[in-house]
Amino acid sequence: MKAVKQTDYSGISGLQVTDQLEPTLTPMTALVQTKYTPVLPYDILTEEGQLKNIRPVRLPITVGYGFTGIVTAVGALRSASLVGQPVLGVSPSGAAQEFIANNIPPTLFKLPVNVGLDVAATVIGGADAALMAVDELNVTSGDVVLVTGASGGVGSYLIQLLKLCDAHVIAVTSPGNIEFCKRLGADEIVDYTKLLARQLSAISQPTKIVDTVGSNILLSDLSAHLGGYNMLSLSTQKFPAGKSNQSFRFSNASIGLHGYTKLLKLLSIGSLQAHIDSIVPFQNIAVAQNRVKSDHVQGRLLLAY
Ligand SMILES: NC(=O)c1ccc[n+]([C@@H]2O[C@H](COP(=O)([O-])OP(=O)(O)OC[C@H]3O[C@@H](n4cnc5c(N)ncnc54)[C@H](OP(=O)(O)O)[C@@H]3O)[C@@H](O)[C@H]2O)c1
Repeated sequence: MKAVKQTDYSGISGLQVTDQLEPTLTPMTALVQTKYTPVLPYDILTEEGQLKNIRPVRLPITVGYGFTGIVTAVGALRSASLVGQPVLGVSPSGAAQEFIANNIPPTLFKLPVNVGLDVAATVIGGADAALMAVDELNVTSGDVVLVTGASGGVGSYLIQLLKLCDAHVIAVTSPGNIEFCKRLGADEIVDYTKLLARQLSAISQPTKIVDTVGSNILLSDLSAHLGGYNMLSLSTQKFPAGKSNQSFRFSNASIGLHGYTKLLKLLSIGSLQAHIDSIVPFQNIAVAQNRVKSDHVQGRLLLAY
């Protein structure tokens, strides 16, 4: 089978699509034929060596983390009813490969009948992070929440989840994604490519901020031109304290099994929509990652297997 390997820290151009043996079936294995994996900034940052402190790895590694696929075989200790099932899962040892051995039952979720494999592939590193942020900030009806990176794989779910909480949402985005953010439910827009001072003084004062960009320049502007707020960043661990009534913290907490079950239910009943920018054959992973890095993608870009 084919797998996508990172062998050095030279970035996207260093990725290699290589041949390797299919995983072996142990008694605990559910063998999954991969269908989609999400293209995540997490992979790109790992390839560039930017996560060495928080995610030390021993190269070479198979890239990727979340996946969807069909279970093709199970070991003696896994439920035979899994065979043929569409599933969503995480694979800490890499997901960008044609077959994945899942040996940890709680990291594999059967999909509800009406949630497609492509839709579900946007959940890992996207909807899950968005739900985590909403929960960590304890967002409730009437909160005014500003979101940076509002059109991205996390942001596109954040806007929707915040609207489900009946919050007032301010989306920070670029010109080409303004209409997209409005369609997702954003009540007000800030265009980060234009001067922020006047825009920030004209919007509703946010009480909570979710940062999914991690830009010091942007965070400094928000701090300088807004009043008190609680900020949760998913993208940078440190930001110097702003005004005394402004708080900052980072989180990469997990939403647990309950959270994934909740997200799949919301997708199945149509309360949440997945936004898939485009789907690219996995062999073209470098093209896909370069698009995520440089283009203004809307929602999540997927690799197909
Ligand atoms: N802590 C956690 O547990 C956790 C989990 C998942 C993800 N994350 C992090 O969350 C972040 C977002 O992930 P994602 O998958 O949503 O990424 P993404 O899909 O690539 O979206 C990134 C967004 O950032 C915006 N952006 C890029 N440069 C910007 C700038 N200079 N100023 C303002 N906005 C800018 C882009 O908007 P435009 O296209 O409009 O420019 C885009 O909407 C990443 O840092 C990722 O590592 C953290």
